Amino acid sequence: MSELMIESDVAAVVQAAIERHGKKHDGLIPILSEINHVFGYVSGEAFREVRKQLHDPTEQMYVAESQLYALASFYDMLSTKPRGRHVIKFCENAPCHVVGGKAIWDTLREKLNLNNGETTPDDKWTLVTTSCLGLCSVGPVLLVDDDMYGNVTPEQIPDILEHYK
Ligand code: FES
Repeated sequence: MSELMIESDVAAVVQAAIERHGKKHDGLIPILSEINHVFGYVSGEAFREVRKQLHDPTEQMYVAESQLYALASFYDMLSTKPRGRHVIKFCENAPCHVVGGKAIWDTLREKLNLNNGETTPDDKWTLVTTSCLGLCSVGPVLLVDDDMYGNVTPEQIPDILEHYK
């Protein structure tokens, strides 16, 4: 998506998200999630727009940009930076770690030449760690976009990556 398109669409996307989830604190995560889903991340422009559009003195509704940024930074599903076309989320918690997670992580980093949070120069891949995905019984676990892979072995990594060519 081009910068121009992003800028012109941000206000409309934010407005639609607020209409769907309401001007209330409970709606902040769903609103940010929707923005993240459309643009791949939540930009500074989006934070400003959410703050502006949520501001409602009659309802005593005010959310600071710093609060929105803190929320987006806390949740793995949200990003404050542009990501690649495919996002690999690797579960880094102990149950996955003890069944071979480290070897998977090392293989991913080596094959993609990325560290945690980085994106390949061609914008194809972003690699991030995440906390437990609730699939500990089939660890090690990783997600590629919305696709879940369980019982992953290092040998499977090239085939998994190949699938997204
Ligand atoms: S610890 Fe990895 S899915 Fe739960």
